[in-house]
Amino acid sequence: MPKIIVAATLFITLISFGESAEKYDTTAFRTATKLCSSCHGTAFYMAKQIDDDDWDFYFNTPGKLEKIHQKIPKGLAAVKSRRFKNHKKRLLKFFIANSKYSGSVHGCDANFCGTHH
Ligand code: HEC
Repeated sequence: MPKIIVAATLFITLISFGESAEKYDTTAFRTATKLCSSCHGTAFYMAKQIDDDDWDFYFNTPGKLEKIHQKIPKGLAAVKSRRFKNHKKRLLKFFIANSKYSGSVHGCDANFCGTHH
C-alpha cells in the first residue's frame, strides 16, 4: 500500500476515535450534573423528561425557570447562578439533543454509565 494511503487511513481512524469520545457536549453534561442532578436525576434522565418544544419553552421564556423554582431555594440558586447563565445555550442544546422523542440512548463512558436516577 502506498505510504500516503496508510497515512490517510491512520488519520481518518484517529479522527473517528476523537468523535466517538465526544458524542455529546461534556461541558453541558457536567454543568447539569453539578447544578440540576441533585433534584432532577442524571443529565440524560433529566433531558428525557420533556420534549424538545418544552425545553425550548422553559429556556426561552424570560423568567420561566426562576418562576418554576421560586419556592425551591436551591433550585432558584442553580438557575440564577453565573455558571448556569454562562452555559445556558449549550445546556439547552444538550437537553434538546437528548429529549423525550430524540431516540438517543447512552451506554457507558467516563462520565456516565447507564444509571438513570
Ligand atoms: C433543589 C432542587 C432543584 C434543583 C437544584 C433544580 N430544580 Fe428544576 N425543578 C425542581 C422541582 C421540585 C421542579 C418541579 C416544580 C413544580 O412542578 O412546581 C422543577 C422543575 C423544573 C422544570 C420544569 C419541567 C419539569 O420537569 O417539571 C425545569 C425545565 C427545570 N426544573 C429545570 C432545571 C434546571 C435546568 C436546573 C439546573 C440548572 C434545575 N432545574 C435545578 C427542583 C430543582
